[in-house]
Amino acid sequence: MPSTRQHSAHPGTALVTGASAGIGLQFCHALARRHYDLVLVARHRENLQALATLLQARYDVTCHVVSADLSDPQAVARIHDEVEQRGLHIDFLVNNAAVLYNGYFHELDGQAQEDLLAVNVVALTALTHRFLQGMVARRHGHILHVASTAAWIAIPQQNVYAASKAYVLSFSIALADEQRACRSGVQISALCPGYTDTRMLDHPQQGRMMHIPRSLRASAESIAEAGISACLEGRVVIIPGRAQQLSMALLQAAPRVLAARLIGACYRHLQKPAQADPVSAKRS
Ligand SMILES: NC(=O)c1ccc[n+]([C@@H]2O[C@H](COP(=O)([O-])OP(=O)(O)OC[C@H]3O[C@@H](n4cnc5c(N)ncnc54)[C@H](OP(=O)(O)O)[C@@H]3O)[C@@H](O)[C@H]2O)c1
Repeated sequence: MPSTRQHSAHPGTALVTGASAGIGLQFCHALARRHYDLVLVARHRENLQALATLLQARYDVTCHVVSADLSDPQAVARIHDEVEQRGLHIDFLVNNAAVLYNGYFHELDGQAQEDLLAVNVVALTALTHRFLQGMVARRHGHILHVASTAAWIAIPQQNVYAASKAYVLSFSIALADEQRACRSGVQISALCPGYTDTRMLDHPQQGRMMHIPRSLRASAESIAEAGISACLEGRVVIIPGRAQQLSMALLQAAPRVLAARLIGACYRHLQKPAQADPVSAKRS
């Protein structure tokens, strides 16, 4: 989609997964405000196209839409091929898309848990591997992985999700050190938001529902802005909000099994069966 560019500072092209909603949509605004062109990735093409039209009109940037289901093992190769065919270089990769299920692991749909790992872990790793090559060759780039405060602790009733985020955090910290050591010029960061006001907290097809009060939720806009600015500043681990930083420090100090028991009791109290059948929960 063409753009008659007015501004001179053009930092390059950013690719955002899960671009169509929640924090991902706000990442797109934060990057477009900084004059990045965008590659927007999610499953529902019409949402991405509407966002592309809005971003182009508001920020005078160029947007490309690639619809893909990241639980599909072919998706990452196809996204990479489409980017190359359009002659683009990715300068800023935001691995944001993820899914979550609440409830007892043995009651949740097994395929849905495997798809969660495919999106939250496998696709994230594969996208980073593919796009990091070009960044290292050009000696410049930023990769922002969206983890969670859930990455720091074992969370009963969300156990596969929390474990997937622990992977994202560990992978990011280690990769950041590798890139620093070889002076590649590529910045790797992990963003760890707490409760954020998006549909992820209220999705009716993700097993049990957690009714998190609105007063405890950050806005998606503030989380995205904190993530992009801190990544551009070179921070490796980003936990937005003083309260989240303090609660993570306290939970880290407690024995892991004890912390899990505390959170498990709390989540079992908070989680209620959703209208969708939790036994066969599988998101569309
Ligand atoms: N919300 C929170 O409280 C919270 C807290 C901590 C961390 N996070 C993390 O923040 C990130 C964004 O979460 P969010 O709350 O903004 O989520 P969200 O509102 O549910 O949005 C998820 C985005 O991912 C896309 N998506 C979902 N499944 C996909 C798939 N299989 N393939 C490709 N795209 C897919 C969705 O679009 P389509 O449906 O069109 O595919 C949508 O654009 C995630 O990594 C999440 O774990 C969220």
